Amino acid sequence: MRKKIVAGNWKMNMDLSSGIELAKGVKEYFAGKTPKAEIVLCTPFIHLSVMKDVLKDSNIKFGAQNCYSEPSGAFTGEISCSMIKSTGAEYVIIGHSERRTLFKEDNKMLNKKVRMALSTGLKVIYCCGEILKEREQGIHFDVVKEQLTEGLFNLTEDEFKNVVIAYEPVWAIGTGLNATPEQAQEMQSFIRKLIAEKYGKGISENTTILYGGSCKASNAAELFSMPDVDGGLIGGASLKKEEFCAIVEAVK
Ligand code: 13P
Repeated sequence: MRKKIVAGNWKMNMDLSSGIELAKGVKEYFAGKTPKAEIVLCTPFIHLSVMKDVLKDSNIKFGAQNCYSEPSGAFTGEISCSMIKSTGAEYVIIGHSERRTLFKEDNKMLNKKVRMALSTGLKVIYCCGEILKEREQGIHFDVVKEQLTEGLFNLTEDEFKNVVIAYEPVWAIGTGLNATPEQAQEMQSFIRKLIAEKYGKGISENTTILYGGSCKASNAAELFSMPDVDGGLIGGASLKKEEFCAIVEAVK
């Protein structure tokens, strides 16, 4: 059985104390409960060094939202994978559409980051997804295929086992307009088929594929009921404790 995951992507939100409060709130909510999904909090960098302590005595994991592709050196303002790993973080999001668009990160750069993260022992949440125009033109499958092929498909099987995929149609991110469960399923089964072609059925069946884009408590159960939707990558709704915890509980 592949792992179900609900990951919060806090993006550039939460100062230190409000982030600690939110993480503590989620931890307290699930104390003594056994959620069906692994919970991952992807916080801004400033929270990482306290999260191990804040989340201790819980099963909640945490991670970063970005990393740099080089191990160390004169890269003013960047954060390396080994720095992230040294905080106790287990995950890093790579290839979020906001990084692709606003910070001009292309598949080649993202592939370098992915390989650096994996070689450092981090698990990668690799994001893919088309913009609205690409869907309207009917090229959304090609776009996602290219993002996966160029970003991931030179990994070894062992490396690929530490990759989680997040399908995030860009038109659904922060818009309130989520993909329908059928649209998510259609793309996510396509993604699983591509993985099977590259790495074999065993690995593809074990790969966790998340949906992200206006996922909230009111639509999560329906999205997560799809056979190839193994949980969610949650933006805005991960900033509210009740909403985020309800999304986690929508995983059956
Ligand atoms: P929203 O949930 O705010 O639409 O954001 C999704 C996202 O980008 C998660 O990475």
